[in-house]
Amino acid sequence: MSASAMKTHAAEAALDYVESGMTLGLGSGSTAEIFIARLGEALKAGNLTSLRGVPTSEMTARAAKAAGVPLIPVDQAVRIDLTVDGADEVDGRFRLIKGGGGCLLREKIIAHASDRMVVVIDETKLVETLGAFPLPVEVDPFGFTITAKKVFDALRASGAPRCDVALRRRGDGLEPFVTDGGHYILDCACDELPDPEAAARRLAAIPGVVEHGLFIGLARTVIVGEEDGAQVLEI
Ligand code: A5P
Repeated sequence: MSASAMKTHAAEAALDYVESGMTLGLGSGSTAEIFIARLGEALKAGNLTSLRGVPTSEMTARAAKAAGVPLIPVDQAVRIDLTVDGADEVDGRFRLIKGGGGCLLREKIIAHASDRMVVVIDETKLVETLGAFPLPVEVDPFGFTITAKKVFDALRASGAPRCDVALRRRGDGLEPFVTDGGHYILDCACDELPDPEAAARRLAAIPGVVEHGLFIGLARTVIVGEEDGAQVLEI
């Protein structure tokens, strides 16, 4: 069974949480895009009405437009009922690593503003300890080498056994990858993050760090796509 089929099972199960009239945070990444496509189908079939989406990236905005999901500008979203988003890793306490697609700042702003966050993943993303996936940290381009050193120190001080900090580059490998907000991403390969709360606290205290990819205390529901369906986990 391919990861994409498992992602589809998770994304389809997330539709159960959507009600007509909701304002929805639309996550980024391949699983979120499957959810958006299914949302568009439900709107076309008339099974859902009066939905408004708030996209977490330019890529998601394009996917929503293509699927026929109406969007509103983020500043018009006084209240977001539900956000459905993917993740790169999820542990047993629903702590997440996000940002593999480079959208973590907008994803976190929208998730934090939402009444509920539903995370859609394939089963390979469930882990005992976070950190095998390199932690993305979004930083201001100004002084990013200084910030990178501070990020290294923060992660090591939080108990990470090692930390290789790499500036994310675009597909051509030449230029830095630039986020929708104009920032850089540092991918931090630590193998393990034994104390995600301490890591989050230390990273947030660094001036050049715009946001980090640890999402703690945000997800209440995780839908895990499996070979023959989806398992819903609730905290
Ligand atoms: C985007 O920045 C990420 O946080 C994604 O949500 C995450 O990388 C999961 O992506 P996939 O659904 O494509 O695996």
